Amino acid sequence: MKRKSFLLILAAGFMMAGSLMSGCTKEGPAGKDGVNGTNGADGTAGLDGTATCIECHSPEGIEKAAVEYQMSKHSYGGAAFEEAGRAGCDPCHVSLGFLDVVENNTPATFTLNEATGKYVNNYEAAPHALFGAIDCRTCHNEIHATYTAGDLSLTTVAPVDLTMWGGLKTADVAADGGMGNLCIKCHQPRPVTSFTTSNAIDYAALASNPTGMAYDPTPGATNLVRPSYRTGVHYATQAVTYTGVGGVEFPGTAYNNSIHSSIASCQDCHMAPMQGTSGGHSFFAKGNFNGCNAEGCHNGVDASSASFWTGPRSDIKAKLDALAAALNIDGVEFMSRNPDAEHNLWAASTTNMYDGYLNLYDPITNPEGMANNPNGIFRNPAPSNSWSADQKAINAALPALSMTNAQLGAIINFQLVLRDYSLGIHNYKYTKALLENSIAAL
Ligand code: HEC
Ligand code: HEC
Ligand code: HEC
Ligand code: HEC
Ligand code: HEC
Repeated sequence: MKRKSFLLILAAGFMMAGSLMSGCTKEGPAGKDGVNGTNGADGTAGLDGTATCIECHSPEGIEKAAVEYQMSKHSYGGAAFEEAGRAGCDPCHVSLGFLDVVENNTPATFTLNEATGKYVNNYEAAPHALFGAIDCRTCHNEIHATYTAGDLSLTTVAPVDLTMWGGLKTADVAADGGMGNLCIKCHQPRPVTSFTTSNAIDYAALASNPTGMAYDPTPGATNLVRPSYRTGVHYATQAVTYTGVGGVEFPGTAYNNSIHSSIASCQDCHMAPMQGTSGGHSFFAKGNFNGCNAEGCHNGVDASSASFWTGPRSDIKAKLDALAAALNIDGVEFMSRNPDAEHNLWAASTTNMYDGYLNLYDPITNPEGMANNPNGIFRNPAPSNSWSADQKAINAALPALSMTNAQLGAIINFQLVLRDYSLGIHNYKYTKALLENSIAAL
């Protein structure tokens, strides 16, 4: 715009000069032609019709990424379809929902609804954005914006206000320009909410008052939670364990972070050059040590390395086992076991194959045939109307569960570390402290 008006002024100026000179009409004979001027410099070559396309559309570019992506659970997993249409689930499970919460910077806060007296979780996707498989455009939202390689930039690299904390704490995987923040925007725990207010629980208050009651089965008691089979932090907890922001920090062993959390980022290990079906755009780290040994980080680490692999992993596994054993009422453990590795992603992470659920009676959600008891061994405080009279009677005869703040906090920490999946590789020091201090608190 500015340039155009400048040209207009210039043109007007010439016209004025022309009219001033137009007073002289007499013209002499024309002189000889002058010598030809030197040729101007060649203009820049125009773009070849497909040159910019090929920056990406090449066997080493998106074609490689796209075939690797077929190995990614983001692509073949069913969750984007199963959880479609659900505003509270879709910031992480469907493409449009994720793009919506990024674009609108949807806050992870809870707000009090004065009419109901209950809190509302604001971390929801908009009603028009509740579908779409996770694909290239979920993470690279500028594709075909300018048809240059810059269009592969990531959808977000901003630090993430954790939904588990109602936005009060922020996780930041700062290395490599914040690339890992793309991952943890989805790979973060969900809040455990208060039964009475529906607000996110104040986890610091659990740690500072371990003997207080979180759940007392006595009729009429006011309770912080009403436990169910699924009470907990959801499944992908890496944002919290990796950055060391957000466990229930009981006092004891100091909470330090391993060096990974400051110098490494998710893609370093999860998108390293492919090894088998792991790495690249499969996003799996399993069995792929290429990332560990790249960029001079480690030297020759593999699955037999005692100090960097088997040692820390068996230590965390033993501590998970010990914590689960300590979570008992009169000697009866209440964390659920599930040896079915197809349904229990974390079956290999503990000796007794815990899945992080609570072993409360529930003929619908608590699968039949689990190792320690079909359908759960503690009484469910909220029997469903859909249960048969027999099922209600079985439930009523079971022992009641009670829960101190220490037990609730320890359950949360158990889930955070178990479902982190890496058995300490992400952040050994922090996860070790969480488990040790939880065991001590019990
Ligand atoms: C920044 C990298 C990049 C550049 C540059 C680029 N593309 Fe693409 N293009 C992509 C990605 C990523 C996809 C999605 C691939 C997939 O879904 O497997 C895609 C998909 C396509 C598709 C399939 C239809 C679709 O939209 O999914 C066509 C056709 C296409 N590109 C044409 C072109 C043409 C023509 C050019 C050059 C004018 C070009 N692209 C430049 C990255 C790029
Ligand atoms: C839009 C949200 C979202 C983003 C962004 C995201 N993920 Fe995921 N990720 C998921 C969901 C949802 C699943 C489970 C999909 C299913 O089961 O259908 C998943 C699954 C995975 C799995 C397989 C876990 C298993 O069960 O074995 C890995 C590994 C993974 N993601 C790593 C990453 C990494 C690394 C990044 C960043 C480069 C990332 N993810 C970014 C949502 C996301
Ligand atoms: C803050 C992001 C986030 C929200 C919100 C979220 N999820 Fe997830 N969910 C994930 C991620 C990431 C995974 C992948 C975990 C993995 O495979 O390691 C996952 C996994 C799952 C799984 C697969 C678990 C398994 O054992 O394979 C189910 C089922 C699921 N989510 C259901 C839901 C439902 C239902 C909601 C809404 C009530 C929801 N999720 C809300 C991020 C989220
Ligand atoms: C879950 C998020 C995510 C999804 C989905 C995703 N990418 Fe990427 N992609 C990334 C990240 C992160 C990087 C940067 C990796 C790095 O720089 O180390 C990247 C890098 C790339 C690159 C640069 C070269 C390379 O391979 O590192 C290409 C090309 C690419 N992606 C294409 C695609 C295509 C095509 C798809 C769909 C088939 C896709 N991406 C899906 C996260 C994603
Ligand atoms: C130092 C390397 C490293 C970094 C960095 C790293 N991971 Fe991992 N991650 C692992 C290892 C190792 C496993 C366990 C793989 C196995 O079971 O053999 C794992 C497991 C996982 C899994 C479970 C599925 C699987 O087998 O890959 C998810 C999901 C995951 N990490 C997400 C993340 C996210 C998100 C980040 C960034 C915040 C991250 N990781 C950073 C090494 C790493």
